[in-house]
Amino acid sequence: MSFYSPVRTNAAEVAKSDRLHLFKYVEDPQQANIDTFVAHGGYVAWRKALTSMKPDEVREEVKNAGLRGRGGAGFPTGIKWGFIPQASTKPRYLVCNADESEPGTCKDRVIMERDPHAMLEGMAVASFAIGCHLMFVYIRGEFGHCIDVVNRAVEEGYAQGYFGKNIFDTGYDLDVIVHSGGGAYICGEETALLNSLEGHKGMSRIRPPFPAVEGLYACPTIVNNVESLASVPHIINRGSDWYKSLGTEKSCGSKIFSLSGHVKQPGNYEVELGYNLKDFIYSPEYGGGILGDKKLKGVIPGGSSTPFLKPEDIDVGLDYESLTTVGSMLGSGAVIVFHEDTCIVWTIMKLIHFYRHESCGKCTPCREGTGWLERMITAIEHGRGRPGDVEKIESVCENIMGRTICPLGDAAVMPIQSAIKNWRDEWQYHIDHGKCQVKTNTEFV
Ligand SMILES: Cc1cc2nc3c(=O)[nH]c(=O)nc-3n(C[C@H](O)[C@H](O)[C@H](O)COP(=O)(O)O)c2cc1C
Ligand code: SF4
Repeated sequence: MSFYSPVRTNAAEVAKSDRLHLFKYVEDPQQANIDTFVAHGGYVAWRKALTSMKPDEVREEVKNAGLRGRGGAGFPTGIKWGFIPQASTKPRYLVCNADESEPGTCKDRVIMERDPHAMLEGMAVASFAIGCHLMFVYIRGEFGHCIDVVNRAVEEGYAQGYFGKNIFDTGYDLDVIVHSGGGAYICGEETALLNSLEGHKGMSRIRPPFPAVEGLYACPTIVNNVESLASVPHIINRGSDWYKSLGTEKSCGSKIFSLSGHVKQPGNYEVELGYNLKDFIYSPEYGGGILGDKKLKGVIPGGSSTPFLKPEDIDVGLDYESLTTVGSMLGSGAVIVFHEDTCIVWTIMKLIHFYRHESCGKCTPCREGTGWLERMITAIEHGRGRPGDVEKIESVCENIMGRTICPLGDAAVMPIQSAIKNWRDEWQYHIDHGKCQVKTNTEFV
């Protein structure tokens, strides 16, 4: 089977490590086949959970491990599973969020293409933990190859008795449905995803009720990211104490970071949470330094929805807590690097174009505000900026932030606010001179 994404990984180092685990077999071209997966210890955690543990023991183990959602918000996975109303007699659903559309993020794709059973095994364990008998994988529609690979893995899983009726002779039934995504960034937001899965437009829902109480078809539903779920079997196999010993006290475990932009060695790398961001960019094992040995201008550490960091802020751990101390977020773990020749206004123009286009339009601050922002920022970039524009942009951002139905509104404005805070002089230069003070910005065009 061929790999469609020839992305660089650190699988060789992971294979030697006793601590890293998610990427151990992703360079093995046979890993997507069930026999190879099983020979590498696959589906042992599923058997262990189903035959020797109770659902609440599985939930407790994952809770004690300190695993936090890898889809962006970092919510503790075991705690989320506990929100399913135990008294409810409605069916319960597990939905794996494989929509992966946050700009800069391409980690879930590697798991799906190269190690799909890892995700499916985690889904099975999670389903058992919440009492679900029908689980869904919602895969980004553009990921045609992933959809093929996962469908094949599901067929193999049924054929070998890991899914279907009376699994491991326990009487437990579990079915899997693979669903192709609706082709929009907002379909990755969990409530828009559920609408899309039900066949409606991908528009976010007002919460409460939260999906755990009223999700898919108004039934209790847990939505988890691919990487979160792929981490679960390792916790079941090796125990919560082992998992907790990885990473930092509050950001436990390891995480895949997608490194892109102006670095010599872009790729997907698994590191323990808390690994130093500066080392990540410059170390020969990972980023290998800045393209053309230029100076670093800024870094987005967690996907395009997280605030920019300046070079003086990057000596910081890649974990949930440390990144907030320097004014940014871990997000989905997409580290995007910009060198000194990047025009910040041009970069933000591209980003706001994306968010305006992807706004579902349900709430006014996001629908109208992202359009205003795009028009004002485009005018500045094209030499038509006017005095007071930057302040007006800041005011629009403030009026979007925290006032929308889903976090897409905040996601659109956070990089803008940080780009103005960090490089205000550059915005002013654009307005005063009608052009950019930076040498070139053509590399991303
Ligand atoms: C606009 C938007 C897009 C999102 N896209 C994704 C995505 O592509 N994949 C994902 O796992 N989570 C995405 N999320 C986060 C999900 O809403 C949700 O928090 C996540 O799937 C929960 O899984 P986790 O707890 O395992 O992280 C997105 C959120 C927003 C606001
Ligand atoms: S914030 Fe934007 S994407 Fe989210 S519900 Fe409102 S309009 Fe839709």
